Amino acid sequence: MQKPDPNGPSDSITLFTLTSTLTLSLFGAHITSFTVQNQERLWMSSLAVLDGSKPIRGGVPIAFPQFADEGNMKLHGFAREAMWRVESLEDSKVVLKLNAEEESKAIWGNDFELTYTVELLVDSLDLNLSVKNTNTNDKPFSFTGCLHSYFLFDETANVELNGGLEGKRYIDKCDGRKEKVQEGLGIVIPVEAKKSGEEGGREGYVDRIYLNTAGQCTFSRGGKQLYKVKQSESWPDTTLYNPWLGDKQGPMIGPDFDDDGYTKMICLEPTISKGNAVTLEVGETWEGWQRIQVEKEF
Ligand SMILES: *[C@@H]1O[C@H](CO)[C@@H](O)[C@H](O)[C@H]1NC(C)=O
Repeated sequence: MQKPDPNGPSDSITLFTLTSTLTLSLFGAHITSFTVQNQERLWMSSLAVLDGSKPIRGGVPIAFPQFADEGNMKLHGFAREAMWRVESLEDSKVVLKLNAEEESKAIWGNDFELTYTVELLVDSLDLNLSVKNTNTNDKPFSFTGCLHSYFLFDETANVELNGGLEGKRYIDKCDGRKEKVQEGLGIVIPVEAKKSGEEGGREGYVDRIYLNTAGQCTFSRGGKQLYKVKQSESWPDTTLYNPWLGDKQGPMIGPDFDDDGYTKMICLEPTISKGNAVTLEVGETWEGWQRIQVEKEF
């Protein structure tokens, strides 16, 4: 597979408005920075590897055509390790494409077209992904995936997450994939996380797939709203992830994760999990989006 040249500006794209900026690597169509009012809003590991030898840790990775380890492929599929191409570029908007190539066909024998439209607004970011089945053999295909957005916080302790996940069922990946129900008004991280982690034997680790979610979530801390996050209903699920101290050698974290990373980041990911896999007939297109809005009083 083609690899990026870390010194090559052509492999990196910058978008801007009067008050916001965005940087994206064509390796994985991976957003590596999003600032509003000169403040970074996405978490990137200081140990992230940017030379294309492995997926980039932080920002917004794209998982396709497999979510997490829910299948036979490498964690999160191959799209985050492929070089995407630029279809069009304006000051605050870019359209990227990825099609099947020899290497992807060896992993997943389908023809497809992914289109990723990233639009930067003065205080928000629209991430629109579409998937088209371009098989020439009448074969439908199924896929899962996510936008693995890493939100940045000054401090994750006592960050609250309210809204769309209330009352929803979730799979607790830190507790043997037991299905549970989200009680109460909101989720507090990592105080509540510690509780669930104790049950699961891994202190503080939060890795949950909320099922059949919809609507808007709000991150806040100390009564201040920080981020509003919305996803289209075409992503049936939402993943919430904070590895806490985790296991740095474990498959879920790895050596490119800062030791104190868990104190600064929370992932909220529009997701298609295995139980809700999407099937497309030839010629059909699926579209899904996430909108990240930074609150003014941040
Ligand atoms: C992304 O999708 C949303 C919802 O359909 C739409 O409002 C927005 O205009 C789209 N943005 C781009 C850049 O296509």
